[in-house]
Amino acid sequence: EQGLGTVVAVDGPAAAGKTTTCLALSKSFDLRYLESGRTYRIIAFEALQRDIPVENATKVTGLCDELITASRSVSLLTSDRYAQDKLRAARVNVAVSTVAKIAEVRQRVTSLIRLWAGAQPRCVIEGRDIGTTIFPAATVKFYLTAKPEVRAMRRVRQERAASYEHVLDDVVRRDEADMSRTTSPLVPAEDAIRIDTTELTVEQVLRLMTSACRDRGLEI
Ligand code: DC
Repeated sequence: EQGLGTVVAVDGPAAAGKTTTCLALSKSFDLRYLESGRTYRIIAFEALQRDIPVENATKVTGLCDELITASRSVSLLTSDRYAQDKLRAARVNVAVSTVAKIAEVRQRVTSLIRLWAGAQPRCVIEGRDIGTTIFPAATVKFYLTAKPEVRAMRRVRQERAASYEHVLDDVVRRDEADMSRTTSPLVPAEDAIRIDTTELTVEQVLRLMTSACRDRGLEI
């Protein structure tokens, strides 16, 4: 199932610092980076564009198949056709939780990610189910968390425009949706290295992650 390359899995709730730390690890260890949430966001965004109700699992799955075919399979994961601000719009944040609950959609995204990773010698992938479902045999697994208030505050500082209350509500709502769904809910893998970043700086988190990667034989 897993191409025998190195896979670093980084899971955790919304705005826990996954993207920032993955990008840094990707540079230090020469790993190809994949943001798996982006794929769920693309599907949610396209559903909204086409007035497909995101609760309609059959239609959303059909859309997913169409998008996979149109982008020739694995390219959907890395498509740069979608501007970041569009994929991060409030309505996409809401729709994506519903889309990510659909088992058939998750199966398809899982297959694409496995295909993609099989073609990389070394990669780091962030998401919610990378270390649990997609790559249970990942080389290193991290589970990043922080108090919701801290995650919301960091997001507000990063994006400036959004209001704290709004972001906090969204973060709490998405965590709840991600943790309570039946297919691949957000839970730490048993063998994941859990890092609570509430009281840590990015540099401190990276130091912990870097030394864990080195312990598993990754070379800088
Ligand atoms: O990482 P993100 O916040 O951009 O992810 C957006 C949504 O996609 C997230 O709320 C849940 C879903 N997701 C998922 O279910 N599984 C993943 N591996 C990645 C994201």
